[in-house]
Amino acid sequence: IMNNIIFDTDPGVDDAFALLYALNHPNINVLGITTVFGNVPVETSTKNALILSEMAGKGTIVYQGANKPLERKVINYPSFIHGQDGFGDTNHPHPKFNASKLDAAQFIINEINENSGNINLVAVGPLTNIANSIKQDPSIANKVNSLLIMGGSWLAGGNITPVAEANIYNDPEAAEIVFKSGLPIIMVGLDVTHKVFLSQKDIDKLSSLNNSGKFLKKISNIYMKFYKDTRNMDGCFFHDATAVIAMTNPEFFKYKVARVYVSQDNLTRGQTVVYLKDLKHETEINDNRGFVQVLYDVESKKVISEYLKVAKNYMH
Ligand code: BDR
Ligand code: CA
Repeated sequence: IMNNIIFDTDPGVDDAFALLYALNHPNINVLGITTVFGNVPVETSTKNALILSEMAGKGTIVYQGANKPLERKVINYPSFIHGQDGFGDTNHPHPKFNASKLDAAQFIINEINENSGNINLVAVGPLTNIANSIKQDPSIANKVNSLLIMGGSWLAGGNITPVAEANIYNDPEAAEIVFKSGLPIIMVGLDVTHKVFLSQKDIDKLSSLNNSGKFLKKISNIYMKFYKDTRNMDGCFFHDATAVIAMTNPEFFKYKVARVYVSQDNLTRGQTVVYLKDLKHETEINDNRGFVQVLYDVESKKVISEYLKVAKNYMH
């Protein structure tokens, strides 16, 4: 089966792993890459997406999107995790091609209307572009096959605050619009991504395979150092790539059906509050929003070996 996807991203080191996987995977057809602020300013996201598109060599077009959250100021960009340039301060030269003039949200709307029922959205950054698309054309909610989100957390706590995951925290109003929209969402949050580690050994292996692997190793230095310094880990979490693998290999994952609400309060900003379908709470804020799939468990080793397999067979 061929999955047509639109890949929404803020590259970002782990975004780069995810995007190269998607661009090279034999069963994925990336219709376009849309960029958003997040790990870096949106202009840098766009440059990095263009670098990755060029590397994959399929002429995949990049559409620039939001440079800030819907209603809030941008928070500080985490250069201590991804580098100033989003690629571990490797100062990669500017790619040959430029982004399209078409805005990301407009591109998403156009594609969904032209390929109704045949598009999977993959969003691995703040949800601002997806929210803008829904705001501008609410009818798209019924025309999308699936929306995979790397973001949020059910029981795993947060990473940017004790309760919030970074992508949702970065634009909680956008995330709330998305979770309310009725889109068929699959939430790939910290409950699973904190169980999937890419080790230094895996990265060395990748770099021995091909140029894409060499590049991924090169941009991972600061990222790996961050995990060593803050968590004493000999590897990194594999957030965004795990979300894409949840699409190609859903059999590696377990999920619960739930309604998800996003906190906009100061203290708990960006927390995803998960009301399970099969658990009756005494009180429930029920605005009849749609149920979504919340992934909560994963066969981690299979995710990593699947990644390495695709890297070996299809990246160059
Ligand atoms: C998410 O936040 C970003 O920094 C990563 O790229 C990933 O999408 C993890 O919380
Ligand atoms: Ca990301």
